[in-house]
Amino acid sequence: MGTYKSQDDYDYLFKVVLTGDSGVGKSNLLSRFTKNDFSHDSRSTIGVEFATRSIQVDDKIVKAQLWDTGILLAKKAITSAYYRGAVGNKADLRHLRAISTETSALEALNVENTFTEVLTQIY
Ligand code: GTP
Ligand code: MG
Repeated sequence: MGTYKSQDDYDYLFKVVLTGDSGVGKSNLLSRFTKNDFSHDSRSTIGVEFATRSIQVDDKIVKAQLWDTGILLAKKAITSAYYRGAVGNKADLRHLRAISTETSALEALNVENTFTEVLTQIY
């Protein structure tokens, strides 16, 4: 019998934590990347939720376990050092632009390549 790679086989599993102020769009970035879905009236996340998606990097399957942090998580423990070179969301709101490279979960802008870039750098 041959060996088959099942749908859930992967070479690497990485955990990616989405953090940031309430309302910046963490949950929608997650749903855009994992389900190609966007919600205009999403509720605040309580605690932590997660979703997964696998992508191919070189000849390897990299599975991302994406953690979406909500208001009850102690974000104070995550210092600004972790935010260096971070990507902002809501790039479609151009008049409010704060940083140079942003994603938009709404317009599906830079979502795919941002997560791919993060996973490729870890890998
Ligand atoms: P918490 O769970 O409270 O921490 O918020 P969050 O960071 O998960 O934000 P969420 O994804 O729930 O989005 C908050 C609001 O911003 C919702 O009304 C979304 O529809 C909206 N939103 C999310 N991403 C974008 C975006 O890329 N552009 C625009 N214009 N709105 C967005
Ligand atoms: Mg949320």
